[in-house]
Amino acid sequence: MERDGYRIIFLGPPGAGKGTQAEKLSKYLGIKKISTGDILREAVYKGTDLGKRAKEYMEKGELVPDDIMIGLIEEAIGSERNFILDGFPRTLKQAESLDDMLSRKNLDITHVLLMDVPDEEIITRISKRRICPSCKAVYNLVYNPPKKDEVCDKCGEKLVQRKDDSEEVVRNRLRVYKESTQPLVGFYERRGLVKVIEGLGTPEEVFKRITEAL
Ligand code: AP5
Repeated sequence: MERDGYRIIFLGPPGAGKGTQAEKLSKYLGIKKISTGDILREAVYKGTDLGKRAKEYMEKGELVPDDIMIGLIEEAIGSERNFILDGFPRTLKQAESLDDMLSRKNLDITHVLLMDVPDEEIITRISKRRICPSCKAVYNLVYNPPKKDEVCDKCGEKLVQRKDDSEEVVRNRLRVYKESTQPLVGFYERRGLVKVIEGLGTPEEVFKRITEAL
């Protein structure tokens, strides 16, 4: 089994900063970042078959069925040997399928970074999040505002709020996280892979903790 390289999973509740940190780490390590949320949102935006199947689950803050997600991740990983997963796996079934998929290539997960942020901070962060529908850049009206009022700094597109970022849906996403995804912490802890990353502080402070943990 090949243990060199970086096959990193970001785990943690919605709004914990997984996407923000995965983006930074992908640039820092020069490896591919695979964000299942971004892939699904793009599919919904374009109205593809995948998007049509995923839309109703996402808008309610429920998980998209495992069989759809497992096929999607297999395709996204393709022949990559180093990658960062943001948003996958989210259930034990997904984690076991990921293991099977990697072991067929003689690979293993190398690190699981668990982002630790209290629920109340999550609600604040998410209610102020805005995203660029075009280039997918993520902003926060309080912590990381765009230079011009709700317009993307990078491509000039008007920023939007995610449909699943209403307080009611976020509370459901937190419930789903605790029920379906939190058990993965124990699953990976038993293999000694989990590093807990304190998620409070500026994105730069959090990123420094991640590079130290790696
Ligand atoms: P997904 O997009 O993965 O959503 P999530 O896991 O709920 O995570 P978020 O994107 O909400 O938050 P994040 O942790 O990435 O935080 P971010 O960096 O943006 O999934 C969406 C949906 O898709 C799911 O509900 C499900 O339906 C479906 N789905 C996806 N994957 C699936 C799977 N494997 N199986 C089944 N269904 C799946 O930061 C949040 C905000 O805080 C931003 O505004 C940011 O600017 C700000 N911020 C970040 N860091 C800091 C900081 N240090 N200080 C202050 N503010 C900060």
